[in-house]
Amino acid sequence: MTTRSLILIKPDGVKRGLIGKIVERLERPGLKIIGMKMVWIDEDFSKKHYKEHVEKEFYKNLEKFIVSGPIVAIVVEGVEAVENVRKIVGDTEPYKALPGTIRGDFAHHHVEFTNREKKAVMNLIHASANKKEAEEEINLWFSESELHDYSTVHEDHVF
Ligand code: CDP
Ligand code: MG
Repeated sequence: MTTRSLILIKPDGVKRGLIGKIVERLERPGLKIIGMKMVWIDEDFSKKHYKEHVEKEFYKNLEKFIVSGPIVAIVVEGVEAVENVRKIVGDTEPYKALPGTIRGDFAHHHVEFTNREKKAVMNLIHASANKKEAEEEINLWFSESELHDYSTVHEDHVF
């Protein structure tokens, strides 16, 4: 019944000191964190993670951004975890992301601005877009032994 999703707190979220606030957004609705670590990736790893974007015009800026500091990688489990996490994260463009979403609450710029500045859209979070992407990304970022099987209070006392 439950599925998994990968979330990354990108270098902007780490450097801005938003790790705690972002993790709270995931824990509050009862998503279960089953893996979490801090990683500083290089260009090769970026090309693996963003393989669908490597040929795109914005990729150069995205790569520069994503290797510019450490990332906090998280795996959550829950009912429709992928869709629920995307809802919590909000639109790719912070300008379009609704208030109440992570991107809408903590950023505001748009793509016209970042394109002009030759910067990536610094939108704090990566979240898997669908179940297939989630599976591939979790395998890329985590080994089986880094994912933990335990019961939350929701499982023990709420459901
Ligand atoms: O992250 P998400 O799945 O919402 O969006 P994406 O279309 O898969 O793009 C991946 C990431 O590339 C975005 O989150 C942005 O950080 C960046 N990007 C960018 O810098 N400029 C664009 N025009 C589009 C995306
Ligand atoms: Mg994506």
